[in-house]
Amino acid sequence: MTRLLESDIDVIERQLQTYEELFIRQTGHTMEAIARKAAGISGKVKRRKAGVVPVTSGLGVISGFSRTVGAILHHCQVETLVTEETDVAGLQQAYLSGCGMAFLADDKVCAAFGIGQKAHSDNGEATGRGYAAALVEAMKTRGIDPAGEAILIIGAGPVGQAAAGYIAEQKASPVICDLDVDKAARLAAGLEDAVFLSAPAPLREYRYLIDASTSPDLIKEEDVTEETIVAAPGMPCGATEEAGRKATVIHNPLELGIITMYFDCMKQLEE
Ligand SMILES: NC(=O)c1ccc[n+]([C@@H]2O[C@H](COP(=O)([O-])OP(=O)(O)OC[C@H]3O[C@@H](n4cnc5c(N)ncnc54)[C@H](O)[C@@H]3O)[C@@H](O)[C@H]2O)c1
Repeated sequence: MTRLLESDIDVIERQLQTYEELFIRQTGHTMEAIARKAAGISGKVKRRKAGVVPVTSGLGVISGFSRTVGAILHHCQVETLVTEETDVAGLQQAYLSGCGMAFLADDKVCAAFGIGQKAHSDNGEATGRGYAAALVEAMKTRGIDPAGEAILIIGAGPVGQAAAGYIAEQKASPVICDLDVDKAARLAAGLEDAVFLSAPAPLREYRYLIDASTSPDLIKEEDVTEETIVAAPGMPCGATEEAGRKATVIHNPLELGIITMYFDCMKQLEE
């Protein structure tokens, strides 16, 4: 997991509504609607209050992180408490304040947990599924049936694995590429209709891409056309600004992953 920098997140709260409008133009749906698809929720759910608990262990609190997570959840009309207390005392404050789930992150894990009921959502998995759902819905919004379409997935870590799983569920064909060929091959072997490639992938041959790698500026202007759709959770963004001006590049550093974690937990709490 890459540790976010203060500069990755400092504008999120201020720009949430503007980013939501861009996201709707790109995918045809709100981030909440995509997160619900990624989590497999179709009907109504009674929202639960969420606690966001700052954690001081390891490298410590990223300034503004908990407040930003709270703002993202609040954007989806979730009653949210960012605890004044940190760590175990913060978790206790969330519990005593009636929160149904808690969001916590340290240097290794960013996850949401049910309080009082079993539920868990890992940020890597939620981000992979959320971005894959965003790509699939962006395709459908443009009249493209994802079934049978080749979708290049760059990076076979937790985010790429979850994205590949969602893509396979949609009956599209994941093409998995990683600098570590064995890792890509293992992931492809476990999924229907999946194939693997060794890096670098011939990017120009693909119209639909998910960049779940850690490499910046991997996808350049000459690799894309106006029809290309890139779902790019990677931090920093795997597509250059020039590529983003030509193609549709769906990228945000935190928002969709956090919203998908919330609805992933909600689904488990409803079951
Ligand atoms: N936007 C968000 O909300 C969000 C949330 C979680 C993670 N992320 C980001 O998503 C990315 C993936 O996360 P992860 O936990 O799966 O990371 P990871 O480090 O476990 O996996 C990344 C994989 O990409 C591969 N890779 C790196 N450069 C490559 C290249 N040029 N070509 C092919 N493969 C390459 C690596 O070998 C590795 O297997 C990271 O950049 C992470 O910071 C973003």
